[in-house]
Amino acid sequence: MDLPSLLLCILLEVLAVNCLDVAQERIVGGYAPVPHSIKYIVSIQTTERQHICGGSLINKYWTITAAHCDIGIKNMMIVAGDYSLTIYEGTEQEIMPHLLVPHPEYNETTNNNDIMLIKLRAPVYLNNYVSIALLPRQDASIAEGRMCRVSGWGFVSPNGGEIPSTLRTVKLPIVSTQNCNSSQSFDGSITGNMLCAGFSAGGKDACQGDSGGPLVCEGRVYGLVSWGRGCAEPQFPGVYTAVSKYRRWIDNTIFSYYSRCDKD
Ligand SMILES: *[C@@H]1O[C@H](CO)[C@@H](O)[C@H](O)[C@H]1NC(C)=O
Ligand SMILES: *[C@@H]1O[C@H](CO)[C@@H](O)[C@H](O)[C@H]1NC(C)=O
Repeated sequence: MDLPSLLLCILLEVLAVNCLDVAQERIVGGYAPVPHSIKYIVSIQTTERQHICGGSLINKYWTITAAHCDIGIKNMMIVAGDYSLTIYEGTEQEIMPHLLVPHPEYNETTNNNDIMLIKLRAPVYLNNYVSIALLPRQDASIAEGRMCRVSGWGFVSPNGGEIPSTLRTVKLPIVSTQNCNSSQSFDGSITGNMLCAGFSAGGKDACQGDSGGPLVCEGRVYGLVSWGRGCAEPQFPGVYTAVSKYRRWIDNTIFSYYSRCDKD
C-alpha cells in the first residue's frame, strides 16, 4: 500500500469511528460519473435534507435500500434525479415515503437480511434523469472476479463542514464467499444472504458506497451496501446484501400492497 492510500485509510478509519452511529461509508478510489448517467440511484435523506443512505428505484412507486437505513417514516425523504447534493440542479424529484417495509427477519447484530422496501407517496416521473433499475432473478449467482459498480454520495463531515458531494462510483470485483468468510477475513460472519466485493491486492483500496446503495453487476442490482470494516483493507472487502436471495420477497411484497388497492 502506498503512503497516500495508507493516510486516506487512517483518516477514514477515524471518520468511521466518529460516524459509527450513522453507519455510513463512502466511495473511495472512485470517480465522479458523468452527471445523471446513473439514473436509478436515489438519495435517502432526513426531512432536514441530510443525506443518510443510497437506494435504487425498482419501479415508479418503490425504492430498495438497506434495512439499517430505517430512520422512521416521519423523518425520511427520497430524492431522485440528483447528482450534486449541495447544488440545486432542477432535475431533483423529492418524494415522501408512504410505507417502509424492512425485512421482517432483519437482524441488527448479524446484519442478516439487511434489506428494506420503501413505497413512495407519489410515483416518480421517469425522464432523462430518473429511471428504473433491474433486479436479478431469484437465486441468480454472480461469479467471483466479476466486475461490479457501486455508487453513492459521501457522508457529511462530523465536524459540520459539508464535503462537495457529487455522486461517486467505483468498479470492484466480486470476492468469493469462501474467501470473505475465512478466518483471514470476516471469520464466519458471512451468511448466504450476503455478497462480498473489493480488491484483494493491497494498494488500491476502495471503501463501500453509501449504505443501501446499489452494487450493479451485468446491469442488475445484485447487492446493497450493507457493512464492512471501515476503509476496505485488502483482506476485508465490502459486504453487500445479496438481492437475488430476496427477489421472491420483493415481488411478493410489492404485489401484496398492489392487490390491497392501497390508497395513496
Ligand atoms: C440475531 O442473531 C443472533 C445470532 O444468531 C441471535 O442470537 C439473535 O437472537 C438474533 N436476533 C433477532 C432479533 O432475531
Ligand atoms: C460462514 O462461516 C460460518 C462459520 O463457519 C458458517 O456457519 C456459515 O455458514 C458460513 N457462511 C456461508 C455462506 O457459507
